[in-house]
Amino acid sequence: MSDVEPDAMSDEPITVERLVSDLRELGLSAGDTVFVHSSLSALGWVCGGPAAVVDALQQTVSAEGTLVLPTFTGDYSDPGGWQDPPVPDEWEPTIRETMPAFRPGSTPCPRIGAIPNTFRSYPGVVRSDHPVVSFAAWGADAEAIVLPHPDDEPLGEGTPLARLYDHDASVLMLGTDYETATSCHLAEYRGEFPKEHETGGGPAIRDGERVWLEFDDVALDTADFPAVGEAFERERPDAVAVEQVGVAESRLVDQRALVDFAASWFGENRPESLEQADEGAAAPAAED
Ligand SMILES: CC(C)(COP(=O)(O)OP(=O)(O)OC[C@H]1O[C@@H](n2cnc3c(N)ncnc32)[C@H](O)[C@@H]1OP(=O)(O)O)[C@@H](O)C(=O)NCCC(=O)NCCS
Repeated sequence: MSDVEPDAMSDEPITVERLVSDLRELGLSAGDTVFVHSSLSALGWVCGGPAAVVDALQQTVSAEGTLVLPTFTGDYSDPGGWQDPPVPDEWEPTIRETMPAFRPGSTPCPRIGAIPNTFRSYPGVVRSDHPVVSFAAWGADAEAIVLPHPDDEPLGEGTPLARLYDHDASVLMLGTDYETATSCHLAEYRGEFPKEHETGGGPAIRDGERVWLEFDDVALDTADFPAVGEAFERERPDAVAVEQVGVAESRLVDQRALVDFAASWFGENRPESLEQADEGAAAPAAED
């Protein structure tokens, strides 16, 4: 393990060899199935940039294992929900009619990070075709995990995220935390608490034609994911390894344990009814 503080700049270049050694120290092995979240800048000065990290991940799990990365494309979603930046209401019909379709082989995903955006076009990588929340995979079970990808409830049952669970995957957080632990979304579908439903949209290719795809979904919410992570690590320390990879504090988590824990945590901690959620939001702070 490195003796460099997590946020410090590395005092040596972080090479592929160093990354492989750190990943093994964390507990990642040949043959593993792993779902990876990442921050390149957190790792230190990586010699070779994002490609070096992808090479190191491939070397560590080997072709007997499987790497899966989120290659989400929020830019290909319904413009009605855009915040960063919003667009004028009157532009929305034009955007829905003319935005080029999401294409798994070529559509970039820069907002989810340089590492997945590099990984998606590596030889042998397979990517699902959901316009907003696609997954890319390489290795032994790549196709079995990412294909097919249902349009509706795209992070719920029958999706790549649920098949990662079925394949007993680990979640690797390279310099990231529970706020971006997508696996907790699967727990939102599974947890027993009242849910709102919504319609999502995005430009996709279906039956060879560009269409504006509308899909049903549960309204998902990451706000309490850090609290879930904190409780999970307190109650299931056996299911989490923490070490530095490069100079980034990184985690290797048992995905099944996380999803099962989060589903019951949501059942206990999310409001019992949508009315209660509304009242909670409107209620004045309680006085001592
Ligand atoms: C958003 C997020 C990707 C930002 O992390 P980041 O480290 O700032 O950005 P990236 O991973 O894209 O890496 C690019 C940055 O690395 C740095 N960088 C560039 N070359 C580098 C090198 N050779 N070595 C190290 N860092 C380098 C730069 O700061 C670069 O930013 P710039 O392009 O703006 O100059 C990260 O915080 C995150 O949330 N990751 C998880 C994403 C995820 O899986 N989400 C799940 C669904 S919500």
